[in-house]
Amino acid sequence: MSTLLSGKDVRNLLISELSCNVEKISSQPGLAVILVGEDPASQVYVRNKSKACEKVGYSHQTIKLGESTSQSDLLDLINDLNMDPKIDGILIQIPLPAHICEATIQNAVDPAKDVDGFHPENLGMLLAGNPRYIPCTPKGVVHLLNHYNISTSGKNVAIVGRSVIVGRPLSMLLSMKTEMGNATVTLCHSRTTDLAEVVSQADIVVAAIGIPEFLTREHIAKDAVVIDVGINRVKDSAKKSGFRLTGDVHPNALDGWASAYTPVPGGVGPMTIAMLLQNTWDSHCLRNDIDV
Ligand code: GUN
Repeated sequence: MSTLLSGKDVRNLLISELSCNVEKISSQPGLAVILVGEDPASQVYVRNKSKACEKVGYSHQTIKLGESTSQSDLLDLINDLNMDPKIDGILIQIPLPAHICEATIQNAVDPAKDVDGFHPENLGMLLAGNPRYIPCTPKGVVHLLNHYNISTSGKNVAIVGRSVIVGRPLSMLLSMKTEMGNATVTLCHSRTTDLAEVVSQADIVVAAIGIPEFLTREHIAKDAVVIDVGINRVKDSAKKSGFRLTGDVHPNALDGWASAYTPVPGGVGPMTIAMLLQNTWDSHCLRNDIDV
């Protein structure tokens, strides 16, 4: 029997907790989300973020800009939001169109409102072992493991994918000298020699490469814990939408093979949103000197 690690359930728990917190205070946390362009997956993610804000009682705005928006117009908008006292969190959905430099945009966000945790100041604080805002997906993975009492201490963890959004910060978090750290982490990537050999040594496997069903039973030890960060759209003519969602892990390495695994959808995705709500709450409290 494999344990299903339900990010949906854990997100719902956190939403209840945060809603109670919001009722206790006289002010209201505020999040601004910027979406540039028409990427269909990003549109869904942004909609889910605003629905979640609605549920917990945050004020929120989604600012949708055309694909051809200039970098300088986007920087002006970020500057206005940086100055707006009612905004606690600013999130710019990525990917951005190719003519906009993601690093320049992320660096323009006030680090105190950087609820995505992508600003170099926040990434640096994480690296230094004194985190402020931790990127939402890695933070969600750790929260989910903790919720299901899956200890990381002394475990071998293989993370497949070295992105700044997921793999790299997660490798920091899991190797830190903390209760939910203390793991021996191997960060695998496209140049890893004999990926199957490396990954099959792991007690916990995190797939974050963005390739549908890339990791299979051949890569993953029986009874490993499998965390699937991937959310890929693959063509499926049997579906009304014409596509289905699948993760980076093949189903043959999940139910009946893993000791515990995250489903796609309903696993890591909801946790990312839950951690965004948590970071926005933390920002509101920090910025307003609130202690609930
Ligand atoms: N695109 C995919 N994941 C994320 C995320 O966590 N934050 C932002 N801003 N964009 C994303």
